[in-house]
Amino acid sequence: MQEREKFGSRLGFILVSAGCAVGLGNVWKFPYMCGKYGGAAFILVYLIFLVILGFPIMVCEFSVGRGSQRSCAASFKKLEPEGSNWHNYSYFGIAGNYLLMMFYTVVAGWMLYYCYRSLSGEFTGQTLTTEAVAERFSDMTGSPGILTFWMVVAVLISFGICSLGVQKGVEKITKVMMLCLLALIVVLAVHSVLLPGAGEGVKFYLIPDFGRMMDQGLGNVVFGAMSQAFFTLSIGMGSMAIFGSYLDRKHSLSGETVSIALLDTIVALMAGLIIIPACFSYNIEPGAGPSLIFITLPNIFNQMAGGRIWGTLFFLFLSFAALSTVVAVFENIISFAIDLWNWERKKAVLVNIVLLIVLSMPCILGFNLLSGIQPLGPGTGIMDLEDFLVSNNLLPIGSLVYLMFCTTRYGWGWENFIREANAGEGMKFPVIMRGYMTFVLPVIVLVIYVKGYWDMFSGQGLKYLAPWLLAAVVFLGFIAWFIFGGKHNRAK
Ligand code: ALA
Repeated sequence: MQEREKFGSRLGFILVSAGCAVGLGNVWKFPYMCGKYGGAAFILVYLIFLVILGFPIMVCEFSVGRGSQRSCAASFKKLEPEGSNWHNYSYFGIAGNYLLMMFYTVVAGWMLYYCYRSLSGEFTGQTLTTEAVAERFSDMTGSPGILTFWMVVAVLISFGICSLGVQKGVEKITKVMMLCLLALIVVLAVHSVLLPGAGEGVKFYLIPDFGRMMDQGLGNVVFGAMSQAFFTLSIGMGSMAIFGSYLDRKHSLSGETVSIALLDTIVALMAGLIIIPACFSYNIEPGAGPSLIFITLPNIFNQMAGGRIWGTLFFLFLSFAALSTVVAVFENIISFAIDLWNWERKKAVLVNIVLLIVLSMPCILGFNLLSGIQPLGPGTGIMDLEDFLVSNNLLPIGSLVYLMFCTTRYGWGWENFIREANAGEGMKFPVIMRGYMTFVLPVIVLVIYVKGYWDMFSGQGLKYLAPWLLAAVVFLGFIAWFIFGGKHNRAK
């Protein structure tokens, strides 16, 4: 087995992990959800879930990573009690990382393309109508050639960074990318809140409106906040755990987790401060959903003084957010081959470049040649399917696996978990959470899971519900077998 490379600095670990967390969930989904669910009222609910759900599960992931010194492909095998079945979850973890990248590379490509389009002045200096901007967006999604080209660019940049190694590539370049991203956020947010009429947008965004929250249904808001906590922190499929495996034992894991979750939240909040006041300033509805970034905003930049430069900086910010996640997950993907088969990094990079380009094609073709495939109901596509498998299945249920692995005597167990989480200086894990994590949190996670299915399929009829329900039951059966099956001799 090759010697495991480590991060060169604590800041490197925090920024790379935050880079994995900061992504489309922060820059697009969060501001949009805030707008829809009552601004700061939603933010309050979201923050509660970050503390009671995101924080403990993320510490579990980091502890498993640092305790095993392996990626999720091999960490359960290393730590599980002899004779147990936990290690089988590794296949789902690996699948989750690949599935996430099968659409994330495509959207990262969109960001790069829009950065190029803004820089080339395509969205400025002309009297562009909203319809014309919308047409340009559908021209892009309708063209497999353009989508493939920019997806390949995103894949090559990201694997290129990973090929340089943990310290010289992933850590060094992500650090620069994240610092630039943080600087860009400040510049863009200040510019946005100073636009004429932006004050109304700031109020809309930051003053809690519990009435609007209740209008959307408290259940939907709570569910939205919980799923956002899973997605934004990338927890449940080991993509965070690996960075624990590159970490020394100088600092306790709770303190590091708080820093990472804080950074992630700041980026999400600031993204809203960039987008929403600008929409108000130009009298544009901020709750436009997916089209907000690619249609509404280019329109705004088109009307803005210096719009070409502001548009380019904005899409550069989005590109950094997307690429920092792609690099982090690609690092996981590379380390699977290294941990499982002891491959050289170079070989793992080359094989996975080809693999990821091929695997990203269904998502691309789902927008054009294969748009007739609507696996989750009318109007859905292949990208929705991939997102559903990751966001509604692998993240919540994977989180349950990590949680139970760290709390029950069937798994690694509470004592081992606490020893690893608390090793080093800094904040200690609140042991008062033990009962809650063992008995309450698993139930919350299962409720989220069931509610996700209900939202997706209720109203779509048995034709869609029945096969997916069957698949979910089989999936849960596997998970139960991983957790409770096997002989369960004492934990290592
Ligand atoms: N955590 C990543 C995001 O928020 C997946 O986009």
